[in-house]
Amino acid sequence: MKKLLGPCTNLQLEPFQYPIFWDITKAMRDNTWTPEEVGVADDLATFHRLRSSEDKYDQSKLHWFKALWGQLTAFDMLRSEDALTLSLLIFKPEEIKHFLCRMQWDERLHTESYRYVVQNFGLPESGPDSIYEMWSHVPEMKARVEYAEKINDELAERVFSTGGRDPSSWSLQGKQTILRSLIFWFLIFEKVWFLINLKGPISYMALPRAAANKPEFIGAAEQLWYIARDEEQHIRGGVELIRHFVLEHPETVTEGFLVKTQEMFEDCLYLESQFVNHCAQIAPILGYSPNDHLETARVFANLGARATGFIPAPFPEARHRFPWMAEASEHKKETNFFEQTPKDYRKGVDLGLDKIGSGMPTSVMDNP
Ligand SMILES: [Fe+2]
Ligand SMILES: [Fe+2]
Repeated sequence: MKKLLGPCTNLQLEPFQYPIFWDITKAMRDNTWTPEEVGVADDLATFHRLRSSEDKYDQSKLHWFKALWGQLTAFDMLRSEDALTLSLLIFKPEEIKHFLCRMQWDERLHTESYRYVVQNFGLPESGPDSIYEMWSHVPEMKARVEYAEKINDELAERVFSTGGRDPSSWSLQGKQTILRSLIFWFLIFEKVWFLINLKGPISYMALPRAAANKPEFIGAAEQLWYIARDEEQHIRGGVELIRHFVLEHPETVTEGFLVKTQEMFEDCLYLESQFVNHCAQIAPILGYSPNDHLETARVFANLGARATGFIPAPFPEARHRFPWMAEASEHKKETNFFEQTPKDYRKGVDLGLDKIGSGMPTSVMDNP
């Protein structure tokens, strides 16, 4: 029988020990999209208008947009380059490698999407105003990149010191390093840091009813929802990976490990608060406060933690502050929510997790 950490031969495709990953990968493939499918001509007009405006709320929107784009671009590269490369060395069954490789492809596609907007807006590729360099000189962004790199370095040290061979023989501490990395990347980096920023501020600016002014950045918001849809599949696979890992290595979930996990959630939500306050430093977007953003991010953290079945909600008092997010998720299945015109954005069939079926708790399927 194949095990997550081996032994198993990489050249043996079937039988699958973990068929859910094959199914999730198919769902990811069915979601395939390209940035060019989304028009950004109206967004370009918005961008130029905001850039020439002296109104502080206009300047704030532009600042928020650029900060978000800069952070997301760095994040998708970070996710793809580091964590997935290591994961491919650790997890041995082919069906899991299949999922990880498709995920890596998705993250690259997301960077294409960011570049598509950068090019269309005529933003500089390099220099102090480049969004590509922003993460390295904005402390609130750099801190998050460094936090992720630290998590990765601990794992990389073990992987490369063994040449990636036989992680099943690693010590308890070594296996806890794997589990901690999975929790960080899937439940915090993707479920919290990515999702709240993909679904939050720019989508709010684009909303037809909630925006204080005329809806803006509709094309960018559409792209971010496409990306969020991909990320939700990644998170679903990540929760499966975590659950299977703990089933095979229950000794890794110690009281001390759970205490450190809680601290990790708290540290990362603190870093999110630093970032959102940087975004809102000129002025808040009317109707979208940094506090509501953070409180909703805490709800995302709770959903991810509870879905594992063994991590308690880190912020049990948190309450969702943006009901329109769920509404947008629902509308996304049949319409372009932001334009409110009938349009089918799916190339493939609608594969919700309920149809994939894995015994996964429904909480992770909630579209917050
Ligand atoms: Fe991504
Ligand atoms: Fe992802």
